[in-house]
Amino acid sequence: MPKKFLKLYNFNMNELTKNFQLISIIKFKQAKLKEFDCGRNDLNQFLTEEALTFQAELLGSTQLGIDKNSSKIIFYYTLENDRISKKNLSYHVSSSQWKKFQHISPITNFPALKIGRLAVAKEFQNQNIGSEVLTHIKNLAINSNSLGGCRFLTVDSDPRLEVVKFYQQNDFALLISATKVAEFIAKNKKVPLFLDLKNL
Ligand SMILES: CC(C)(COP(=O)(O)OP(=O)(O)OC[C@H]1O[C@@H](n2cnc3c(N)ncnc32)[C@H](O)[C@@H]1OP(=O)(O)O)[C@@H](O)C(=O)NCCC(=O)NCCS
Repeated sequence: MPKKFLKLYNFNMNELTKNFQLISIIKFKQAKLKEFDCGRNDLNQFLTEEALTFQAELLGSTQLGIDKNSSKIIFYYTLENDRISKKNLSYHVSSSQWKKFQHISPITNFPALKIGRLAVAKEFQNQNIGSEVLTHIKNLAINSNSLGGCRFLTVDSDPRLEVVKFYQQNDFALLISATKVAEFIAKNKKVPLFLDLKNL
């Protein structure tokens, strides 16, 4: 692994684990999951009603961030394997960026890791925790290359401008044209974004 990635990984693990214990949902008391509230019913419900099934069916892996003092769930995220097709990528990167990809001819799909769900408890939002979790996930994705290729992180953002901005502020780029964002938001369609791990 390149040295700069290793440094980033070690730094971030220390930062995030200073205050929070990261544990798999399967090791947490199921009855306590319903205490989590991020202000979004769909994301609260996913945690209490679907996340364990996703885990058991090998469809998505959920980690909880637990406050070391109160044992409360402060955030959770769910990760899944994903891909971005070369064709889709060609539409959404600049022509100078595209030069980096077009010569990789045997590839039709680039391997990726998808952030299936991400939520921070209501009273802890806007305190940089979501951004720290994203840095942690970036490092996990880079490290996952020791197991199998993973070039991109992907996410289908909740269709609210502030959430799309949150991902953009954290190095994600749109996987639709910028002019379509307002249309997606108006139609309540999730907004796809991606991050090239080689740009970190
Ligand atoms: C979106 C979310 C994960 C961001 O985590 P966070 O810890 O609040 O974010 P950070 O403090 O690291 O970053 C702040 C940025 O996030 C966005 N943000 C902050 N609070 C937010 C909220 N309640 N809802 C949506 N976006 C929010 C803003 O764009 C903010 O940028 P600004 O400082 O320029 O205004 C978190 O607010 C959340 O869980 N919201 C509800 C669930 C959700 O929408 N999840 C996203 C699913 S794709």
